[in-house]
Amino acid sequence: MTASSQTQNQKIHDVSSKGYLNPIWAARADKLQSATGLLLGFFIIMHLHFESSILISKEAFYHVGHFLEGGIFSETGHGFPVLTKFISAFMLIVVIIHAAFALRRFPAQIQQWRALRSQMTIMPHQDTKIWFWQLITGFLLFFLAPVHLYDMITNPAIGPHLSAERVYHQDVWMLYVLLLPAVVIHAMFGLYRVAVKWGITTKRMAALKLAKFMVIYLMIIGIASLMTYIVIGQSLELPVTPFVPS
Ligand code: HEM
Repeated sequence: MTASSQTQNQKIHDVSSKGYLNPIWAARADKLQSATGLLLGFFIIMHLHFESSILISKEAFYHVGHFLEGGIFSETGHGFPVLTKFISAFMLIVVIIHAAFALRRFPAQIQQWRALRSQMTIMPHQDTKIWFWQLITGFLLFFLAPVHLYDMITNPAIGPHLSAERVYHQDVWMLYVLLLPAVVIHAMFGLYRVAVKWGITTKRMAALKLAKFMVIYLMIIGIASLMTYIVIGQSLELPVTPFVPS
């Protein structure tokens, strides 16, 4: 083998193993993927809590919505729905950056998929299984998350009745039924992986238990909220009038 073909082979190996020729760029890509993942993971924990205030009452969700829309800064107290558009557009950019850097980890060929599946059968290691589910849920989110964010950019009306109208009368529940488990699994196990990878915790088993607990907990409040929106939506007559607290 000539020196030039050896160099070429080395380059191919480097590109295929790390996704980048330069290890500094590979490290930067890793950091950016983890940083955007952290941001998205914490965002989704906050988001599902804010959004589940509908479980307390319509008034509670109404006030949370207005607070997040900057109600305290507007004279009427009704906030600026345009803020929802900007934050949704920002989150869409974060999702795109996160997905773009994650793409290099996808098994590109059927042989790589087979190798991964057989590795999981021979050595059913828990972290390999988690990584596999990160791949599947990440793939689903690639299609589902932008649909929701585009919806929030073009139709930012939020409120007990307006959200229930979207969920029930505009059939967006079909999107949420898929988006909820995909994002909860992806985000919680993603946070676990980041914590272990960057040495944020050395208690791997405890971190894994916490991630599993959070998946169950967020699924419960997410499903309960979704069902509440559906019940409210069913009780509304069309055209829907926005909820105003008495
Ligand atoms: C700033 C951006 C976002 C805004 C303003 C927003 C707003 C909302 C609102 C108001 C709802 C309640 C139902 C409705 O009105 O349609 C909702 C539900 C939901 N959102 Fe978002 N969202 C944002 C970003 C995201 C992201 C990035 C994800 C995950 C990738 C996400 C996942 C979900 C899920 C799974 C539900 C359904 C929750 C349930 O079943 O209880 N959202 N979102």
